[in-house]
Amino acid sequence: MTEKYSFDYFKTGKEIDERTRKGIIELHYAADKDFIPPLSRRRQKIEDIPDLNSRFLVLKYEGRIAGVIIFWDYYWKCRSAYIGNTIVSRNFRKLGFGQLLIKESVKRLRLDGIHLVKTNTWSNNMSSINMLEKCGFTKYYTVRDARGKGIHKIWLRRSL
Ligand SMILES: CC(C)(COP(=O)(O)OP(=O)(O)OC[C@H]1O[C@@H](n2cnc3c(N)ncnc32)[C@H](O)[C@@H]1OP(=O)(O)O)[C@@H](O)C(=O)NCCC(=O)NCCS
Repeated sequence: MTEKYSFDYFKTGKEIDERTRKGIIELHYAADKDFIPPLSRRRQKIEDIPDLNSRFLVLKYEGRIAGVIIFWDYYWKCRSAYIGNTIVSRNFRKLGFGQLLIKESVKRLRLDGIHLVKTNTWSNNMSSINMLEKCGFTKYYTVRDARGKGIHKIWLRRSL
């Protein structure tokens, strides 16, 4: 598998080419209902996501977009990063691509001078929690019922 994948890293949405832009939007639409709440019910419109002034790490497998991670820029000035949406295309899940994306993110963030990375997910998103814990993240804060009754928001972090 190793020789067939590659990464593209964009330090701002403005750098993203049209083909990749469309691919990122398609990934978000395809994963819409995997998220709680669904992405289409959030404040940020899916079409606008690739235009954000954020950083994007795109994973390609045999030239096709297989996954993406977005780093929102809220905490950049204090040398900490926040991982927003992480999506692996349904056809490529449970093959280790999620972990590849997280590990590559850690490398890129270190090179960008970031010392701490945080993210959050919801309590029954075991694929996300397992993926993050396998990559060295630890849970540090829970907001009970934040995503609905019995569905908590789980914060995880990792020092770099
Ligand atoms: C979360 C997500 C990115 C994981 O991607 P992935 O490529 O399937 O992850 P990996 O194959 O690297 O799996 C990492 C670990 O997570 C666990 N895992 C993956 N899918 C799982 C599932 N459905 N249930 C339980 N654990 C799961 C496994 O422990 C796996 O480790 P292993 O392969 O050694 O067993 C992917 O499921 C996804 O895109 N989900 C929809 C969007 C989402 O929920 N994003 C995260 C919140 S922002």
